[in-house]
Amino acid sequence: MKFFIDTANLAQIKEAQALGILDGVTTNPSLMAKEGITGQSNIFQHYLDICEEVEGDVSAEVIATDFEGMVAEGEKLASLHPRIVVKLPMIKNGVKACSYFSAKGIRTNVTLVFSVGQALLAAKSGATYVSPFLGRLDDISTDGMHLISEIRKVYDNFNFETQILSASVRNTMHIINCAKIGSDVITGPLSAIEGLLNHPLTDNGLKQFLKDYAKGNNLHSELQ
Ligand code: E4P
Repeated sequence: MKFFIDTANLAQIKEAQALGILDGVTTNPSLMAKEGITGQSNIFQHYLDICEEVEGDVSAEVIATDFEGMVAEGEKLASLHPRIVVKLPMIKNGVKACSYFSAKGIRTNVTLVFSVGQALLAAKSGATYVSPFLGRLDDISTDGMHLISEIRKVYDNFNFETQILSASVRNTMHIINCAKIGSDVITGPLSAIEGLLNHPLTDNGLKQFLKDYAKGNNLHSELQ
């Protein structure tokens, strides 16, 4: 299972990378704007900066919504760095562009997916990744995790190679449930990834070990 971080924040990307568990980065126009990165040349430079920090795939989203614009922008993005994956919205022209890029061997991530039908189209158009947004479905009282398991079933029925990139992951339970279902990838914030570390018995156990060590080694006063 791959772990991607869903941010354009370089400090957080570095922190996740330092854990040695990071397999890639996803970004979107909102995440770029949140970091104050505006204007095409700054955005392109920022993708390059991100690629320098991680060894895995970096999803870069096109802004154009017409076919020709998507192709031109996607080709530019793909030429920036070999690990850039062109992120395309799940609209008619996005599917068309995905088929075009698949035929050219350019890797893609079809984003804003909220149904099994959309995920089927992404797979049929040869997407490298499909991004169902589970958190946003949960936000509207719809079971996001159910969608991930349905897509898993359908993809397994036909051995589709498109990887399920569960997106809009918001918490540790999302990550754990995605792992149980067999999502190929999750992308979420650093807080959700680091949340996997937490267990009070770990904290209490470590505290006790250090206390006993200090007693045994007569270093108690140093550790106070
Ligand atoms: C996926 O690629 C998106 O960037 C992201 O996961 C959206 O998450 P959000 O619903 O928390 O904004």
